[in-house]
Amino acid sequence: MNTEAGTHPLVLSAATLSRTLLAPLPSRVRHTEGVVSRAAALTDTVPVRARHTLLAAAWLHDVGYAPRLASTGFHPIDGARHLASLGWSPEICGLVAHHSGARFVADLQGLGDQLDEFEFVEDALTDALTVADQTSGPQGQPLTLEDRMQNMLSRHGSDSVNARAHPQRARYFRSAWARVAARRLVLSPDIGSLVPLAS
Ligand SMILES: [Fe+2]
Repeated sequence: MNTEAGTHPLVLSAATLSRTLLAPLPSRVRHTEGVVSRAAALTDTVPVRARHTLLAAAWLHDVGYAPRLASTGFHPIDGARHLASLGWSPEICGLVAHHSGARFVADLQGLGDQLDEFEFVEDALTDALTVADQTSGPQGQPLTLEDRMQNMLSRHGSDSVNARAHPQRARYFRSAWARVAARRLVLSPDIGSLVPLAS
């Protein structure tokens, strides 16, 4: 873990806010801690200047699940709007709004226009956040990407909007994972800590 980035004031503020908002949802806190841990292991895949941004976004990515923030009922939008209202940067709000292929689900729910309030940028940061989220289980446990997707499908059910968005999201997740793995390979020959794609 990049300890310098982990103690950045922005990251500490994000951790405090996340723990406060998600306090009624202990398993969501555990999942978030898992995502932060995974993101910390991936900081070498993003530019040095962006490492604290990745960790802050990891802490904040699911705050939209907080019951008191429920508005649209779509947590990426509800979370990003709340963060924007608190003055968090457009970059952080965009990362939260668009994490883990939110756009594919939003389109199916008729929320694409609302999600478009926040800019999607496909880069090393969004890739790392999505991979960290998609290799952390509901209780924060490390999972392979393939196991995580199966877990999601079984939890949401075959008729869910998540299941209908799955073909597009799965393609995106696998592409993001491959890009992150390639960046790690270039930056460091030791990629042993990256959770493998499949078991
Ligand atoms: Fe998450």
